[in-house]
Amino acid sequence: MSKYDHLLDKAFDILSASKEERIRYVNEDKWIGYPRAQQILERLEDFISYPQVERMPNLLIVGDSNNGKTQILKRFAERYPMSIDEDTYTNVQPIVFISAPAKPDENAFLIRLLEEMIIPYAKNDSLEVKRQMAIRAMQTRKTRMLIIDEIQHIIAGSYNAQKGFLNSIKDLSNTLKIPIIGAGIEDAFHAIQVDSQLANRFQVEVLERWKFENKGDRVKFAQLIASIETRLPLQEPSYLYKKPYIEQLHYLSDGLIGEVVLIMKQLATYAIKHDLPCIDDSVFGELNLVPASKRKELLKRMR
Ligand SMILES: Nc1ncnc2c1ncn2[C@@H]1O[C@H](COP(=O)(O)OP(=O)(O)OP(=O)(O)O)[C@@H](O)[C@H]1O
Ligand SMILES: [Mg+2]
Repeated sequence: MSKYDHLLDKAFDILSASKEERIRYVNEDKWIGYPRAQQILERLEDFISYPQVERMPNLLIVGDSNNGKTQILKRFAERYPMSIDEDTYTNVQPIVFISAPAKPDENAFLIRLLEEMIIPYAKNDSLEVKRQMAIRAMQTRKTRMLIIDEIQHIIAGSYNAQKGFLNSIKDLSNTLKIPIIGAGIEDAFHAIQVDSQLANRFQVEVLERWKFENKGDRVKFAQLIASIETRLPLQEPSYLYKKPYIEQLHYLSDGLIGEVVLIMKQLATYAIKHDLPCIDDSVFGELNLVPASKRKELLKRMR
């Protein structure tokens, strides 16, 4: 047992660096492979290795904002980077990953696809031309999966816009015979229900908020906190996964991983700045933390 068993190697290495470097390190994004994320990654593996069949299955990942959907997708996409086919010297792009445009505008959507693949197009090319270019590029690049993040933007619009878009997604999926993975907030889930044909073809994975109701939930949440803590370069363990901190962290985060990570970054930054060996009650007190859901009320009262 060493004195620094509470830290991962990288965090330990940075312990002797300057305050600025330690604070920068704290605030960098670091992947935490919590069990639910691993499950969804495995699900995605099943989809990408699915055989080409007439009716390709698609997947919708639904969850509240700031709860880790995009991080999971990015992590998955990193497993399948672009490469060059040794025989034909052409690009191979197993995954095309876009974030949906803000409105259900098919032209904007196709432009995102073309730009993601760095395919030159002319602005006034017709929709049909753009669609064909995108399809052809994905075919020659042996694309095996299309990921559309923030999918609620394009499918949860007015009824007609929605219908049009759902059809064009259905078209893409039929022509390319690749799975389409959408991620978005709950609105996206309601939107696919508009079209029963589509609803049938989208399986759904819900990325729930972190709960704190029964023992199982509490253990999972404690494990999340513990793994984040091993990445905070502090001299001594803070035991944030124990009472009373864990309860406070759950309350302050509203069960959202994005908030958990942000709060822990703030706590660690404060501790490092003030030469504290770990995070304790005083740090929580000094930061005056308020849950995101309560911040709005607070603002209203101040007006
Ligand atoms: N697996 C993870 N490991 C470490 N940090 C994570 C992880 N997942 C999420 N986070 C943190 O939470 C933040 C929000 O995550 P993300 O952007 O994936 O949420 P989202 O569900 O896509 O939200 P939105 O619906 O608003 O786009 C990230 O910026 C990151 O700081
Ligand atoms: Mg996101």
